[in-house]
Amino acid sequence: MKHLYIVANWKANKTSSEAHAWLIQFLNQDLISYLHQNTQLKKTIIICPPFTLLSELAILFAQYDLPLSLGAQNVSHFPEGSHTGEESAVQLAEFAKYVIIGHSERREEFLETDELLRKKVDESKRHMLIPIYCVRSEKDPIPDGVTIVAYEPQSAIGSGKAELPSVANSVATKIKKINKISSVLYGGSVTPENVHEFTSQSMIDGVLVGTASLDPIMFSQIVVNA
Ligand code: 13P
Repeated sequence: MKHLYIVANWKANKTSSEAHAWLIQFLNQDLISYLHQNTQLKKTIIICPPFTLLSELAILFAQYDLPLSLGAQNVSHFPEGSHTGEESAVQLAEFAKYVIIGHSERREEFLETDELLRKKVDESKRHMLIPIYCVRSEKDPIPDGVTIVAYEPQSAIGSGKAELPSVANSVATKIKKINKISSVLYGGSVTPENVHEFTSQSMIDGVLVGTASLDPIMFSQIVVNA
């Protein structure tokens, strides 16, 4: 059985009370026992909240021994120091195991370049944060040391128009051929209804979910259906 990564990217959504309500509803879906069988299921579930919620979710996951991992949505390319408004890898690594790097929204809205993204990967690896490196096509270069890539075609992000699973699979195949990548995830309008069409493709090892991850019931269905 393939190891799957099911990743929730909450983007700039959820206050503290909304995150608590999400968690209660998410775990109410008979998910606790399902998740505790997870070693057999081979599904790694990663929640990527905004920075403001990382520390409290880390405490909750540990307190209730939840089989969920935490990821950050971004990391500074600078080490710790005088960089106002930045979060360094060493700070994030206190709470998160993973970090999303190079999401197309950051490339577009914050003009993040391949060179900058390479520095973010280096900083992350120096502090044992595992990058989930986003590309928009097989043409985006992937820095050395990346093992998990998320392929997110821009037209599919937030549009309700997911890519054809067979097309996503062929891009994943190319990505794995060009680079030493162990896992390629698909992202873009993933839903409980279409998730299995993606995860059943031979070269796709999971999903990166935006909109549908904000709804705890939908995200729990994605976890089960994947
Ligand atoms: P949607 O699931 O809303 O299309 O967003 C995808 C995405 O950008 C996840 O990182």
